[in-house]
Amino acid sequence: MASYLDRIGAGLIIAHPEMLDFDYVPDELVKREAIQTELASKFTTVGSPDGAARAVITGPVGSGKTVLAKTFCRDLQRHLAGKREIKIAHVNCRNASTSMRVAQRILHQFDPGHPDRGLSLGELLLSLRKMLRRISTHLIVVLDEVDHMLRRSGDELLYQLLRIDEDQDGTGTLSLILISQEQVLDVLETAVLSKFGQSNHLRIPAYSVDELEAIARQRAEIALVPGTWDDGILRLLAERAGTSGDARRVIEYLSSAAERAEFRQDGHTEQTITVDDLHAVNDALATNTTHHLEVVDDLPAQGMLVLLAMCRRLRNEQSMTMGDVERLYAVVCEEYEQKPKSHTTLWKYVKQIEREDIIATRVAAVPGGRGRTTHLSMPHFLPADLASRLELLLPKRLRRS
Ligand SMILES: Nc1ncnc2c1ncn2[C@@H]1O[C@H](COP(=O)(O)OP(=O)(O)O)[C@@H](O)[C@H]1O
Ligand SMILES: [Mg+2]
Repeated sequence: MASYLDRIGAGLIIAHPEMLDFDYVPDELVKREAIQTELASKFTTVGSPDGAARAVITGPVGSGKTVLAKTFCRDLQRHLAGKREIKIAHVNCRNASTSMRVAQRILHQFDPGHPDRGLSLGELLLSLRKMLRRISTHLIVVLDEVDHMLRRSGDELLYQLLRIDEDQDGTGTLSLILISQEQVLDVLETAVLSKFGQSNHLRIPAYSVDELEAIARQRAEIALVPGTWDDGILRLLAERAGTSGDARRVIEYLSSAAERAEFRQDGHTEQTITVDDLHAVNDALATNTTHHLEVVDDLPAQGMLVLLAMCRRLRNEQSMTMGDVERLYAVVCEEYEQKPKSHTTLWKYVKQIEREDIIATRVAAVPGGRGRTTHLSMPHFLPADLASRLELLLPKRLRRS
């Protein structure tokens, strides 16, 4: 069978499952131009035959530290092709937490069969030195999650790597990039940062909701079948992951929602990821356990009516405008025989509901019109579940007030 047909039948929603993997390295990073430029500025010397560089990258989980280093090394290698040969040894010190293991891994990048039994750290490094000299290659060593190694074995290996050019003619043999989570900086602080120089320290921040949305969009574009997702879904995913600022989480949500949509396909259902798919994402994924249905219990009765109005629309739509809220609120008030509150009071309830993290709001263009308006969405709850709870509580609550 011709291989151009392989993609067909690969999936109705997910075209390239491997691209939803965390380890998949995208062609380009999104929303990190400034940090990429900063990292590149530390490496200007590597363009010349004797140049070497150092950098320390720190930031919270899922802020893209690993992928920043991987794409940077890959791009640099391409950029210098024909000028200077670059080799890369990216070692995750979580899996190889002693200096010995790390040194072995680095060596194995060049010589997978290199015997390491019985060799001391010094001997391993001597082999590395010889090898680098022989093949006249510049090596970039990336020690990812380096805090694991520092805790287990101290900074001996770092020292040795930095001194690799001593007592030989060559210079600029090796560049070093260290990566660590922000929280474990204390280990780094004393041991390493002084040696690397504060100016070589790049702190990268957690992602904003907009940035998470851009990351989700990039993955959706490359991994999913066109037309199976839309902007509203991406926004909801990003809002759901928002508080964490963790890119891994938004990709995980996208992937689970897509898998669920894929699983539902039976030839009759619409071939799209729905709000339901998103909310069905196993809540074990969400480490944030504050999102229990009970959050609505403490709302005042009028606030409950407002929220119920929102739930009814958000059952079928990814987001709604304040105008929608007002209209549906009027309907709900009629149903419960209540006099609707003024626009200003309504707005206050909306703000309270937002503070409780039940809804998310943002200002964006009026759908199909001019100007901007507030859009509301419900990233953490299944609107139907909240609605049932409210319908249960409301009669009692209204009798009381
Ligand atoms: N700016 C970005 N553009 C595209 N994908 C990104 C970006 N930042 C992170 N990712 C993706 O998010 C996931 C988590 O990023 P990762 O580099 O592993 O974070 P960290 O190492 O900081 O914990 C990876 O799958 C990565 O490819
Ligand atoms: Mg990482």
